[in-house]
Amino acid sequence: VQHFIDLSTLDRPSKERLLETASEMIPVAGTRSDIAAGRILATLFYEPSTRTRLSFESAMLRLGGQWLGFADVKAASVAKGESLADTIRTVDKYADIIAIRHPAEGAALAASLYSDVPIINAGDGGHFHPSQTLLDMLTIRQELGRLGGLTIVLVGDLRYGRTASSLALAMADFRPHVITVTPDGLELPRHIYRRLRVDMGVNVTETSDLKEAAEIADVLYVTRIQRERFFSDEEYQEVKGSYVVDERLVAAMPPGSLVLHPLPRVDEIAVEVDNSDKARYFKQMFYGVPARMALIAILLELKEVELEYVEPDREVVNVKCGNARCVTKTEPYLPRYFSRVSGRTDPLFGGEGAGVYRCSYCDYEVGG
Ligand code: NCD
Repeated sequence: VQHFIDLSTLDRPSKERLLETASEMIPVAGTRSDIAAGRILATLFYEPSTRTRLSFESAMLRLGGQWLGFADVKAASVAKGESLADTIRTVDKYADIIAIRHPAEGAALAASLYSDVPIINAGDGGHFHPSQTLLDMLTIRQELGRLGGLTIVLVGDLRYGRTASSLALAMADFRPHVITVTPDGLELPRHIYRRLRVDMGVNVTETSDLKEAAEIADVLYVTRIQRERFFSDEEYQEVKGSYVVDERLVAAMPPGSLVLHPLPRVDEIAVEVDNSDKARYFKQMFYGVPARMALIAILLELKEVELEYVEPDREVVNVKCGNARCVTKTEPYLPRYFSRVSGRTDPLFGGEGAGVYRCSYCDYEVGG
């Protein structure tokens, strides 16, 4: 079975095939088809969600299938102490495909190890959110007409925000210029930054000047401060409200450029921006349905689209992941999978040998 854990590990032609299939689903997304008649999707949501869960369920209904699931962990057996592995071994008997959202980083990969049906990562803690990235890329492709060579400005909480790092990594082979604008302390995680710059050769720059970045943006991708992932509320209060995208800023953006946001919005985009022709975050939400329809249809092999992954070999290594939010902390029976990271020569990142192993679940690097 094929799973969908991390969009950035798909090769570029596969991403293009996936996006093409998603664009073919656009006219079907407003109607009902029988492509997935008789199939069942399970949505297991261990974290709050409006768009992701409902658009997965809508996508399955639009495909003519059905869904079941839970949106509240208190209602599921995890509240009785059931492991993720056992929950998955249960649900794969009841459904043909599973979309899972979980607070632990690497939870979707962990789930895939115990599932006889395809697992879709619907967000694993602050790590990745690949189905969101697929719809973000579909939005850019449809609304801008191209994906290559774009200047993408990522604004907000890039430390805990899973959508921004997912997008930056998945766009890497379309040669973007990525500019990050973040409050102090909420920068892109160093291992993501390193992977983009060193491993993928992406032009990434950091700035504190939002206006200067907006003036050259093709896409201004705004994110919310991920309050629920902060260790203390004081920490959140310090950065709260530290950036606002308003009418003036949007007016400084080039004609034809886009303002995107995965939503929910708190206060980081002023409501006055909603009327701008550059604001596409509501349209972006719509694209979640065809993007997820394509994903479900392909993983259920109802559409013949080949997806090739370029993933590093993983091996069991007798070390512990250093990330407190890694799924291996809460699900201790998991095999300790790591991949080797070699050839670090950039002095900016501590020279060769820095980060010898990368945790296969959460992507944190542990030095050797
Ligand atoms: C995002 C998420 O859950 O990561 N929302 C979404 O899926 N559309 C962004 C967020 O919660 O800020």
